[in-house]
Amino acid sequence: MTYRLCIIPGDGVGREVIPCAVAALQRALPGLTTVEAEAGWDCFRRTGSALPDETIAQIAACGAALFGAVSSPSHKVEGYRSPIIQMRQRFDLYANLRPTRILWSQASQTVGRLQAVDLILVRENTQGLYSGRERLQGEEAIAERVITRAASARIARVAFELARQRERKRVTIVHKANILPVTDGLFRDTVRAVGASYPEVAIDEMLVDTAAMMLASQPARFDVIVTTNLFGDILSDVASVWGGGMGVAPSLNLGEGVAIAEPVHGSAPDIAGKGIANPCGAILSAALLARHYWKQADAAERIERAVYGAIESGSRTPDLGGQATTQAVAAEILRRI
Ligand code: NAI
Ligand code: MG
Repeated sequence: MTYRLCIIPGDGVGREVIPCAVAALQRALPGLTTVEAEAGWDCFRRTGSALPDETIAQIAACGAALFGAVSSPSHKVEGYRSPIIQMRQRFDLYANLRPTRILWSQASQTVGRLQAVDLILVRENTQGLYSGRERLQGEEAIAERVITRAASARIARVAFELARQRERKRVTIVHKANILPVTDGLFRDTVRAVGASYPEVAIDEMLVDTAAMMLASQPARFDVIVTTNLFGDILSDVASVWGGGMGVAPSLNLGEGVAIAEPVHGSAPDIAGKGIANPCGAILSAALLARHYWKQADAAERIERAVYGAIESGSRTPDLGGQATTQAVAAEILRRI
């Protein structure tokens, strides 16, 4: 079996952590072939494009990509558009998967209610308040929040397919249908209708503000969460705290036949070049490609076990309270794979 991967390290720590993730995948998935492509701020300054056509062509040819992070200027720059947003739109990557598993070191220091945190947030990635329909009308600023039945149904299918393969088999629909009965009512009802075809999966629902509180206080209560774009963006950051924070959080952007994995963190200019970036988020993102795109659950599990084992053994970068370098942590993880 051959697996084709397009590697896009990007800027800053992306260039430090992505090679670690590629090495982990190569060890767990013999038969992996790779091509490297460029995107991001450095690429924009060199070529005038943040996402060159060749990069898009290579992602399309491979189907799977591993993206590091890019730096975006905080002021408007003519011609620059965030490549990750462009890629999500170009390849219709409608599902954003963000799993969080509690670290042993944190669980052992806290009470039992936290020990079983193992949740996955499924975020609708194309519409809601991110539809791009924002305008100024005189003194009135308006953003349209678009929810369609079709997009709600396809994100629901992703959530239920995931849930039925998990131990607890529960989907929690997070919405705000009390205040947004038309848009979130459609979302909630559509997800429930899809859920009717999955009798083995339990369904419940929660208002988004309550869900935020519960993610902060009783995260072990959740299994699979399905929600709209903005709510998912915010709630996944809350959830990521339980997994060790920015340096550890992985994500996968998934469409039909195309998937782009990326650590949740950015280019981290404050630590770039120092050799201390945590490679775990990038490596766990690579594991998500193995599990959800290539359907290689064994390979994914070996990578994930190696990452958590390395962290538990004390091989930790400074963001997790340790003193290890990126290279040392990556070497320990590779050894365990
Ligand atoms: P950031 O995620 O780059 O950094 C936030 C904090 O987390 C910093 O203190 C950083 O040192 C730490 N951190 C991030 N990754 C880490 C890792 N692997 N190991 C250890 N610590 C890590 O977010 P920030 O500072 O808001 O943005 C910096 C740049 O990254 C900006 O240009 C921003 O536009 C871009 N960015 C890009 C993203 C992407 O490409 N997907 C996502 C978020 C930000
Ligand atoms: Mg975010």
